Amino acid sequence: MEVTSAPYQYLPPALRREINAMLHQAYQCEGEPDPDEPLHRPALEARSFCLASHGRLAAYASVLGKDIIHLGLVFSLGSLSCVATRPEMRGRGLGERVVAAASDWLRTCGRYDIAAFSCDAGLLPFYRRAAGWEAADVVLIANGDDCALRSDALGKIVVLELLSERAKRAEASFRGSAVNLGLPPGEFI
Ligand SMILES: CC(C)(COP(=O)(O)OP(=O)(O)OC[C@H]1O[C@@H](n2cnc3c(N)ncnc32)[C@H](O)[C@@H]1OP(=O)(O)O)[C@@H](O)C(=O)NCCC(=O)NCCS
Repeated sequence: MEVTSAPYQYLPPALRREINAMLHQAYQCEGEPDPDEPLHRPALEARSFCLASHGRLAAYASVLGKDIIHLGLVFSLGSLSCVATRPEMRGRGLGERVVAAASDWLRTCGRYDIAAFSCDAGLLPFYRRAAGWEAADVVLIANGDDCALRSDALGKIVVLELLSERAKRAEASFRGSAVNLGLPPGEFI
């Protein structure tokens, strides 16, 4: 079982539908999944990481990218997203493997100044073991609206790693800061 990786926009429609169905089940979403609804907006230039077992999608993760403006400087931010393992296949290290592959790509592809995402505090040991992610003293805010989604209000911890030299030079400005993601209403990472 190998993790395969490709830009989301190039995935065959059948695999996209399988991803939608698996995520719907993994995240216990209500109602019926729309099999043909694109999972990621094209602007986020998503890269998909799939782990198949016996011809079925067993685990999935994606890396999403976007530019953010932090204290007047533009940084390219890459985020892990949609991490999931088919419920009946959990506890076998598949989630860890797909996260390891996606994290390795996120850190080394050269596209991103910053890696950041939010997750439940209980999942930090999973992300730490999979790829060495650590929590940071940062709040992520979806956008500038008064009622914008924010990681602290959602009860999430923030994982943030400065990747590029220019991001590292700005390290002090990130510590304890609120990072505006510039996302549309309702969207979060
Ligand atoms: C999180 C998830 C991807 C893990 O997949 P998996 O294939 O079971 O992962 P692995 O087998 O590599 O690792 C399992 C470890 O993660 C831990 N874990 C899984 N879900 C967890 C959760 N919600 N809270 C805390 N720990 C969790 C397990 O306890 C296990 O740890 P252990 O080995 O010490 O017992 C899977 O549980 C899932 O799809 N959850 C629903 C979607 C989700 O929450 N995604 C993450 C969004 S940030």
